[in-house]
Amino acid sequence: MSKTKRTKKAAGSDNIESMLREDRVFKPSKEFSKQAHIGSMAQYKKLYKRSIDDPEGFWGEQAEKELTWFKPWSKVLQWKAPNAKWFVGGQTNVSVNCLDRFLDSEKANQAAIIWEGEPAAPGIPGEERTLTYRQLHREVCQFANVLKARGIKKGDVVLIYMPMVPEAAVAMLACTRIGAIHSVVFGGFSAQSVADRIQDSQAKMVLTSDGGFRRGGVVPLKENVDNALKIKVKGRFITKSIESVIVLRRTKNKVTMKKGRDFWWHEEQAKASAECKPAKLNSEHPLFILYTSGSTGKPKGILHTTAGYLLGAKLTSKYVFDLKDNDVYWCTADIGWITGHSYVVYGPLANGATTLMYEGAPNWPGPDRFWDLVEKHRVSILYTAPTAIRAFMKWGEEWPRKHDLSSLRLLGTVGEPINPEAWMWYHRVIGGSRCPIVDTWWQTETGGIMISPLPGVTPTKPGTATLPFFGVKPEVVDDNGKAVPKNSGGKLVVRQPWPSMLRGIWGDPKRFVETYWSEVKGNYFTGDGCRQDKDGYFWIVGRIDDVLNVSGHRIGTAEVESALVSHPQVAEAAVVGRPDEIKGQALVAFVTLKGSNKGNKKLLEELRQHVGKEIGPVAKPDNVRFADALPKTRSGKIMRRLLKQIAAGNVEVQGDTSTLEDANVIAQLSKDAS
Ligand code: WT7
Repeated sequence: MSKTKRTKKAAGSDNIESMLREDRVFKPSKEFSKQAHIGSMAQYKKLYKRSIDDPEGFWGEQAEKELTWFKPWSKVLQWKAPNAKWFVGGQTNVSVNCLDRFLDSEKANQAAIIWEGEPAAPGIPGEERTLTYRQLHREVCQFANVLKARGIKKGDVVLIYMPMVPEAAVAMLACTRIGAIHSVVFGGFSAQSVADRIQDSQAKMVLTSDGGFRRGGVVPLKENVDNALKIKVKGRFITKSIESVIVLRRTKNKVTMKKGRDFWWHEEQAKASAECKPAKLNSEHPLFILYTSGSTGKPKGILHTTAGYLLGAKLTSKYVFDLKDNDVYWCTADIGWITGHSYVVYGPLANGATTLMYEGAPNWPGPDRFWDLVEKHRVSILYTAPTAIRAFMKWGEEWPRKHDLSSLRLLGTVGEPINPEAWMWYHRVIGGSRCPIVDTWWQTETGGIMISPLPGVTPTKPGTATLPFFGVKPEVVDDNGKAVPKNSGGKLVVRQPWPSMLRGIWGDPKRFVETYWSEVKGNYFTGDGCRQDKDGYFWIVGRIDDVLNVSGHRIGTAEVESALVSHPQVAEAAVVGRPDEIKGQALVAFVTLKGSNKGNKKLLEELRQHVGKEIGPVAKPDNVRFADALPKTRSGKIMRRLLKQIAAGNVEVQGDTSTLEDANVIAQLSKDAS
């Protein structure tokens, strides 16, 4: 990776095509509005205005109404940018709000989690389970006692590296019960990534499984953990903070269990009492750390805290998904991402809803797996990603058409800008032209949805997340932080603090300030380019930093570059995005080799595998291109703008190349492309 500083690209420029699309407006239906929690634009506007003009009044009321407290707060907000404290002096517990709160009502015996695995196949049991609120409560209390028995105390970090099974939710909630801080690592990440996160968070325990099932195969999670725990740097184990590993038994495969360190989940659980008093936790007690890629260096541990996060997840779930008692709600995200935290686990459970969890791929055993599940469980709300929708489009309408999707009443999307074609297809084929679509813009850092239509309220236009949620004050600004006129591109910032905002980067306050609070002083900088149309709708253009969005997964180019240069044959690497029909963006790496090494097919594949091993399969570049040199400015900056154009297949490179150090480099790279 080049050590030189990178320049920010100009924020989203005018996009004539998207302006033309604004004529396509979908008005909310009367039937939907009549039954929705919020039923009219006037009601939204009134509440929104209140939430911005008097945030403390608004959020104080919501916190009182929506959450169960041990002790009330004395101050709603203490704000000294960039540090926010919400509900100061209050005490609560997340597990109480997601479970105990419902035990005295008829909800106790309602399904909290409906879980389904991949269908039965050789070596795959084909499981299905339902946990009521009461059953989930019991499991969580027992497992909280397991954590305690194995030495976990309030404030300790527990790393969760598990498949999409109910036990993953049990693990998260059990941590919240006793005030342990969880850090979920996506099951698709490598042993190296697990080790890095353990080292950064100083986790004391790992919760994992002997395997996860995907596409008829087994993902060796425990083996990855074993490998992570063996990694040494300069002769020292980087994961020495780990004292124990608890392993969920699922497969018939043999795994190694290290005596005194590794314990079976079911054996521990069987010994534990089902009674566990919830810890009374301060509003600002750390709830979880979730690592996400940035534009430089290693992933950042985004920190969320107890009360504000929970209130944000609960309120957005309630209003954006219009959650009701008889809904079967399915968010298809993995718990390894923030969407899985806020909208598979915490948001729906805090609302007493029924949340569907699925372990497996959307096209296994066939391309209609999702529609099979929607029909079978009578799913009423479906929340998924544009990349999945584009894949469904490609597989063809005949697959959803085979199933009765009439139970659906609301559709959601998240992760990247949705192209209007995919929006229209989702609306027509999946939503039967009857379901509203909520295009929800938010980030790991924001904790919950920030910009989104309210179903039954906001007229929608394909491709825009429309208007802000209560208490959120986004603005599109220029380089000086001044609001730009309607229809001009700029940077998206948030002017006021909100309860579910991140509280920091774990162990790195300096990076927290630099990344989010320095672009426009006192404002939260999102890293996204944006434009507001004449109706005030926000059109997200995409990242303006060196972060790529591949299939809705956030990947920092710097991280992939450092993985590449850690390969012994690589001298220098630059990674850029190229438009991709299904993934949104695909990774293209430009690589120069050390000495007389020559690039060939074998090395290309080796480098891809190397990145997979260093980070995880999601970060493997789609293409690696070998070059004699990378195009640089005279001051040594890699000219990513040019590489992007070459990656996209634009051989005639557009724009200013006058600062290019060696014009021959670009000529050679372009020639390679043709
Ligand atoms: C980035 C955040 C929040 C959960 C999923 C991703 C992009 C997200 C949208 C949307 C346009 C979107 C942004 C954002 N993004 N949702 N509806 N329209 N762009 O979380 O990994 O933290 O990534 O995803 O670029 O900054 P994340």
